[in-house]
Amino acid sequence: MCGIMAYIGKKQAYPILMNGLKKLEYRGYDSSGVALMNGSLSLLKKEGKVSVLEDFAINKKTDGNIGLGHTRWATHGVPSDINAHPHQSQSGRYTIVHNGIIENHDHLRSMLIKKGYHFHSETDTEVMVQLVEWLQTKYRLSTSGALARALEMVEGSFAIVLFDLHYPDQLWAARRQSPLVLGIGPGELYISSDAMPLAEYIDTVIYLENDTFAEMNDCGSYQLYDLNLQQVIQPISKIKQDELICDMQGFSSFMEKEIHEQPKAISRLLNAGNQVGLDQDFDRIIITACGTSWHSGLIAKYLFEKYARINVEVEYASEFRYRNPVLSSKDLVIGISQSGETADTIAALELAKENGCQTLALVNVKNSTISRLVDQSVFLEAGPEIGVASTKAFTNQLVGLISILNTLMGKSNPEFSKQLNNELKRLPMAIDRVLKSIDVQKVSELLSHARNALFLGRGTMYPIALEGALKLKEISYIHAEGYPAGEMKHGPIALIDENMPVIAICNDDEHLPKILSNVEEVKARKGKIIVIKSKNVTLPKGLADCSIEIPDFHEVIAPIAYALPLQLIAHDTASLLNLDVDKPRNLAKSVTVE
Ligand code: M6R
Repeated sequence: MCGIMAYIGKKQAYPILMNGLKKLEYRGYDSSGVALMNGSLSLLKKEGKVSVLEDFAINKKTDGNIGLGHTRWATHGVPSDINAHPHQSQSGRYTIVHNGIIENHDHLRSMLIKKGYHFHSETDTEVMVQLVEWLQTKYRLSTSGALARALEMVEGSFAIVLFDLHYPDQLWAARRQSPLVLGIGPGELYISSDAMPLAEYIDTVIYLENDTFAEMNDCGSYQLYDLNLQQVIQPISKIKQDELICDMQGFSSFMEKEIHEQPKAISRLLNAGNQVGLDQDFDRIIITACGTSWHSGLIAKYLFEKYARINVEVEYASEFRYRNPVLSSKDLVIGISQSGETADTIAALELAKENGCQTLALVNVKNSTISRLVDQSVFLEAGPEIGVASTKAFTNQLVGLISILNTLMGKSNPEFSKQLNNELKRLPMAIDRVLKSIDVQKVSELLSHARNALFLGRGTMYPIALEGALKLKEISYIHAEGYPAGEMKHGPIALIDENMPVIAICNDDEHLPKILSNVEEVKARKGKIIVIKSKNVTLPKGLADCSIEIPDFHEVIAPIAYALPLQLIAHDTASLLNLDVDKPRNLAKSVTVE
């Protein structure tokens, strides 16, 4: 979701901003813009890709050693040149870029209109910058004073960078909920929504804390303040360049590269030796997450309940946070998030903490908001995931959850735990063989002509069916639904005809006879049947139109193996349709607004 890249120092800002904005493209956006200080202010904004902005900027004034850059993912107002950031205050004194949502923007806008302010865009961001100007003028405040007052008045989430024409050698940056990183170099400062675009310039950063702001100048010095204008000190962290710099390494997309990176990513997680301390007593586990991360949570529910006999509830973070759930200190609440910045998951974990629950998070991005919020974090060690469709983070989430199951089982059933450890050890090589041997071409071709698809599974293969459907719909735009196969006859069966491909996931487990009967029901209604099955499964002759076979895996590990063909099918189908698999329309990698 929206990306910020800003620079203040002695170098030319424009190339740094453009480079950073391109690196932030993976977050998802629909317009971009920059503001550069060069005696006067150059403001360039364009709907569309950063490359459109770059073309637009040719022959325009782009020099200056201070600049703000932004990629916008529309929330308030359509994607357009006018709604693109940066936005300016009425007099042009203040210029701002903003991520997040100002929830009381309507009220503030009406108040400012009554005071004589005119608005050019439909954005909540313009409200914020006008508010700073109004407060500064009315109360004769310093810029820091006006900003602090404005931040107190706005409700919602924000990461902002502000420029003041009266102090052309300074910048201000602030955050609440939306992430913002201050990069510190010799005589220069960088501000970005994540550390990745900063890694090629500097290795020292501050992950700004909620409700604080930074006042910076072009000599590279900065001060941090809280909203009472009291100076604060926040920890300085080191980023590892090699962890953050990434390219496609010869693959056709980041998603394809990330699919093939899974054996390595899993090895890295297993070798990281992350230990989860579950010493405190708890009666129940609540897993909260969104999207793909919610699917890994659902798989964990099946496994934890079956093997560890612990009551597990799996909650969409967006529902959990608002439904006043009954919580106590006897609950362990596990948040799962690749980015560690998903607004709903953050709020769900905050709610859990307020209610005295124990909190644990599985996150991929170190130093992310979620990792800093919870009692304990397990880092997924998947490395940067750039493709919007989550792949290697999902399988590493499953490995992380299986390791937690192992911890839960260790004491009560050391034999099982030993077996699981052996399975995990051989997993990277085993899935490497799967990735090298499966051929999804026929299935992808079939799906590329379809308008709808149904994914069926039972047991742990049901969440895998959900995940397969989500992967396909988000990058190929083919409408796809995942269903527990037994539920099909309660509704979706009405959709089956010769145009409906049905992907049935048939693992060799206790559900096999049942799902095969469900597939027969589809066959009887002329649906196109694609079976993904393990080697041991023999299909009745003529049942499947095509099938993909993977080796047999232990039931606990099998969901990881079955995710692979589904990821490849989605990828290849979208590629056949000539779609941008890494940056699907309307989607953002990191969903920092609710
Ligand atoms: O960063 P998170 O894991 O918290 O993100 C949650 C979802 O937004 C994410 O999994 C989304 O569903 C992916 N695009 C799926 O591929």
